[in-house]
Amino acid sequence: MKTILITIAAAMSLSATAAQAQSPEMSPHAADATFGAEGYTSTDGEVLYQTLCAGCHMPDGSGAVGAGEYPALQGNANLEFSAYAVTLIVNGQAAMPAFGTFLNDEQVVALVTYLQTNLGNDFEPDATAEAVANARPETPKDTTKAEHE
Ligand code: HEC
Repeated sequence: MKTILITIAAAMSLSATAAQAQSPEMSPHAADATFGAEGYTSTDGEVLYQTLCAGCHMPDGSGAVGAGEYPALQGNANLEFSAYAVTLIVNGQAAMPAFGTFLNDEQVVALVTYLQTNLGNDFEPDATAEAVANARPETPKDTTKAEHE
């Protein structure tokens, strides 16, 4: 449990300066946490969500409005088709950090499937590893993943 909390904080401080500014309650030592801990190797959508996403979108997906605005993912019609969520998770958008370099295709599929079938959503899961791969930028920052060229 402690590992998970530390990992949330680490993910947020690494990927979003906005989150740092808006989350004064988080430990300043969180950035010391070892990257690659539990949350990043998990392929369990719920674990990934609670580790990486719940800090902004809340554990129940209800979102938050405060210093920043984090949309609710609960009962969210934008999740009916996975393409939008896949693109957003991989590439980020506005204050939503990009997770494409932290998560492999399978992990993104697990996350999106979790979103589509939990948090008050009851959609037909339709994310595929191929769609995730296609959503990745052609020149990913993480060059260890480059395959074609
Ligand atoms: C640092 C805070 C933060 C974290 C962490 C975060 N998000 Fe977001 N998310 C946002 C913000 C802000 C937006 C709105 C982006 C915009 O303005 O376009 C958003 C938007 C979204 C949307 C689109 C909602 C809609 O209806 O348009 C989805 C889906 C989403 N996030 C999923 C996730 C998932 C899955 C994770 C974990 C891998 C995650 N987010 C982690 C801040 C965050």
